[in-house]
Amino acid sequence: MTAPVLEVHLSDSDAADALQHDVRVGLSADPKWLPPKWFYDARGSELFEEITTLPEYYPTRTERELLRRSAEQIAARAAVDTLVELGSGSSEKTRLLLDALAATGSLQRYVPLDVSESALRGAMAAVAREYPALAVHGVVGDFTEHLELLPPSQGGRRLVAFLGGTIGNLLPVERARFFAAVRAALDPGELMLLGAGLVTDPAVMVPAYDDAAGVTAEFNRNVLWVLNRELEGDFDVDAFDHVAVWNAPHGRIEMWLRARHAMTVRLPAVGMTVHYADGEQMRTEISVKFLRTELEAELADAGFADQTCWTDCNDRFALVLAEAA
Ligand code: SAH
Ligand code: TRP
Repeated sequence: MTAPVLEVHLSDSDAADALQHDVRVGLSADPKWLPPKWFYDARGSELFEEITTLPEYYPTRTERELLRRSAEQIAARAAVDTLVELGSGSSEKTRLLLDALAATGSLQRYVPLDVSESALRGAMAAVAREYPALAVHGVVGDFTEHLELLPPSQGGRRLVAFLGGTIGNLLPVERARFFAAVRAALDPGELMLLGAGLVTDPAVMVPAYDDAAGVTAEFNRNVLWVLNRELEGDFDVDAFDHVAVWNAPHGRIEMWLRARHAMTVRLPAVGMTVHYADGEQMRTEISVKFLRTELEAELADAGFADQTCWTDCNDRFALVLAEAA
């Protein structure tokens, strides 16, 4: 077994600058908002893993089932030597792909990329242990910025997986930019595997983001702990309620934090004093749900062809395999 390699493209000082920038922009906007990547410190990554096991959170188990069904066909599609995974988290479902790709004999390397160094380190160690023949090359980075840094193929082709419905966490302009950047990073014939949530009954979608046990609420509020720690903030975290709603015109679930009463929060590290009115809501996350045809059209526009799509019997989630044209 070769020792896993970890490449860090987000130094602590880059991350601190980026957080300060995002907080300055987001908390002076109306309505206030924060970009979602700041959820994922070590505690946030743990809470997300807990979300994936909740009875209400259907995306993970639905996608796992789709991967189980499709992995062999995906592996048969091309001689893949490298599996790149963006926003890999715990790499838990990835094992279904690794098994199928390894069985073809062409897979040599796994390249997980995530902003969460703690999640990445844990996932890399486990994968390296379970797949001793595989070179594991982790990248701490931002998938909206660092795609040009992905290692080239090793003579075969690369498959870039982007699972978990994380694509839905990007705004439409960010999504278009992301698809274009993935396409630009690939050579013709290389593949992308995208897992995306589909529009379904709000009575199914909303509870997935507002579970009875309150894990998602805790995850949502975790971003305030991150601001307190990183920016010397004094948010009274328990004074914010978790809100999840289906925004039908935008086709997305929105997560907000709602102030229980008026308050003033100090963030000395960015020199800000932020006021919240009683009941004021701050947006922390969106999770776009797609119409399958629209998603396929966006991929085609970005330069992906030969698409194969798998969906579950309830049409709640789609896995799309597409080839860089
Ligand atoms: N792929 C896993 C995890 C999904 S949760 C699954 O399907 O269960 C989203 C993951 O993306 C988290 O691990 C988070 O740390 C990571 N992430 C969020 N924003 C990111 C960004 N801008 N760049 C890189 N990783 C990001
Ligand atoms: N990619 C996941 C999704 O949109 C992220 C997620 C799940 C999430 N539950 C959440 C993000 C709650 C913020 C809050 O399904």
